[in-house]
Amino acid sequence: MTRAARAKQLREQIERHNRLYHEQDAPEISDSKYDEMFAELVQIEGECPELQTPDSPTLRVGAPPIEKFEQHRHAVPMLSLDNAFGVDELRAFDERVRKALEAETVSYLAELKFDGLSLSLTYVDGLLTVAASRGDGTTGENVTHNARTVRGLPLRLSAAVPGLLEVRGEVVMFQSVFDQLNAERAEAGEQVFANPRNAASGGMRQLDSRETAARKLTFFAYGVGETSSESFSKQSELMAWLRGLGFEVREEARVCDGAQGIVDYVEELGQHRSDLPFGIDGAVIKVDDLSAQADLGSTSRGPRSAIAYKFPAEQAFTIMEDVEWQVGRTGVVTPVAHLAPVQVGGVTVSRATLHNFSDMTEKDVRIGDTVIVQRAGDVIPEVIGPVLKKRPKKAKPPRMPTECPECGTALVEEEGYVALRCPNRAGCDAQIAAKLTHFVSKRAMDIDGLGERQIVRFLGLGWLDDLPSIYRLKARRDELVELDRMGEQSVENLIAAIEESKSRPLERFLFALGIRFVGERTAVDLANTFGSLREFRRASYDCLMEIDGVGPKVASEVEEWLELDENQNLLDDLLATGVEPIEAATSGSAEFAGKTFVFTGKLERFTRGDAEKLVRSLGGKTAGSVSKNTTHVVAGPGAGSKLAKAEELGTTVLTEEQFLEMVPGGSI
Ligand code: IVH
Repeated sequence: MTRAARAKQLREQIERHNRLYHEQDAPEISDSKYDEMFAELVQIEGECPELQTPDSPTLRVGAPPIEKFEQHRHAVPMLSLDNAFGVDELRAFDERVRKALEAETVSYLAELKFDGLSLSLTYVDGLLTVAASRGDGTTGENVTHNARTVRGLPLRLSAAVPGLLEVRGEVVMFQSVFDQLNAERAEAGEQVFANPRNAASGGMRQLDSRETAARKLTFFAYGVGETSSESFSKQSELMAWLRGLGFEVREEARVCDGAQGIVDYVEELGQHRSDLPFGIDGAVIKVDDLSAQADLGSTSRGPRSAIAYKFPAEQAFTIMEDVEWQVGRTGVVTPVAHLAPVQVGGVTVSRATLHNFSDMTEKDVRIGDTVIVQRAGDVIPEVIGPVLKKRPKKAKPPRMPTECPECGTALVEEEGYVALRCPNRAGCDAQIAAKLTHFVSKRAMDIDGLGERQIVRFLGLGWLDDLPSIYRLKARRDELVELDRMGEQSVENLIAAIEESKSRPLERFLFALGIRFVGERTAVDLANTFGSLREFRRASYDCLMEIDGVGPKVASEVEEWLELDENQNLLDDLLATGVEPIEAATSGSAEFAGKTFVFTGKLERFTRGDAEKLVRSLGGKTAGSVSKNTTHVVAGPGAGSKLAKAEELGTTVLTEEQFLEMVPGGSI
């Protein structure tokens, strides 16, 4: 075989394995075999540079730096969109469209509004030739070398498209990538990225595309610019065609009828926004009929046929009035900002976390500063940073505590961690209250009627002191009834809720214990591995390290926790009060063990996030795309390509109802 033929063969094989690995989640070869093929191609191209084609997968890992960006003039300007804030403005948009088209109702394609940066990709005879940023809309920068490293964007289209095709879309960074990169940067003492959008847009503006490759960016297609090929009658058909050409086209897009259809879509999207693995800042609503789009035309700002619906702002400016130090359940002392009350994302915020003392120092936020506050979904509001231009002369840095604000014990600065900690674990009321509050919380033991306020009160009365004391509260039935605002019925309810919590699934119990670094996900992994509390109590560092997703940090923390007599005594005491976690073998289900589920379409009976969590807690796996490893696809109305794929592969397809029938208890 000639070297040219071998290079071609390698290119094709590598691209095929890339697709199997990234898109279908069904690798056929080992990583080392893949690396071997890749290295061989790199070697051939190194020795014979003329054999490196513009669609070579080696370009995906980045190429040596370029000197500067070339300008690229867009054949069709990249316009912007008008915004709609609130559903009334969406209804007004529909009214304008109907009036202009003289139509009674209009169908729209409603899509995610990706929070990234827009990119134009020009393909000539199916080959990516230019990728350009939006720039001022008329002229952007040629960032082809960087675009080649981005996922979801074919270097060569998977079907023949002769002539010119310009595809437009958005480059984003997934939240998980962002979190990981920031954790690595923080550890290396580098400056962290402010948000995934900045990280993505900075990534596309690198002269050295190896830097871009390291940011693991993803491209989502949302439309077509200049084209000499196919013509379609609907935007939705065009999008399906792009998917067939190898682009990533999100399945959340939906054809909606009339104003009510789009209002329902954005409201539903708002509720599920935090389930998405990347950021969106709203929805884009487009008239589905392409000839109607052409009839409506554009203003200088953007097309009249589309509008961007924006979620309520999740950031706001306000004054930071003070910093309070709070003790958490593991004794970590964290700064909490007191703010002049401000509306963020529809709620009033007057307190926000500053994470930890080193983060606060790095951001250099001072009392009196105007700060940016952010609140996303149901996460705790956080202070992003100060607005330096507005810093008053008298702004002063917050005072670092040296003693626990609760119990006065001298704080320790832990080596290797960015935290200040109160070492008085058994005697610090704030730590005990936080530990108990976590234990009873909804996602842990779920004791209804016992919240933070009650716990602090009962601690003050000496009725609670540690976790087992919760289960001894029932002996104080009369005293509880005597307490103001606790009527007989609510005391009965509280005691019943406490009793009921004695038999929670093992993973909930393990999460409830509040072991450092054991979040919900890790607790599920631990429960599925050890099956019972008895086995978990004997876990060694080595067997912990065997668990997928458990690294040395978690393994040593869990091992140390288990080695402490006080913790083994705590478990004995809890068991003695009658707590009996349901073993994972019985809480897991044979029907789910070893099975992989994919959820698709519009789910009406439960959210995708909840269903996925449930499957995992029952010993099953979940995936984002259908492959030959998928055993079940749960499809709601409007399911598209994933359903088709499942049918093609002969995978079991379930309705939501059929899925619920498989679930022990019949509900989520
Ligand atoms: S269509 C004429 N669809 O939003 C512009 N844009 O606010 C047509 N964006 O610059 C754009 N998601 O970068 C469209 N599904 C989507 C989008 C989307 C994000 C961005 C795009 C555009 C900006 C306009």
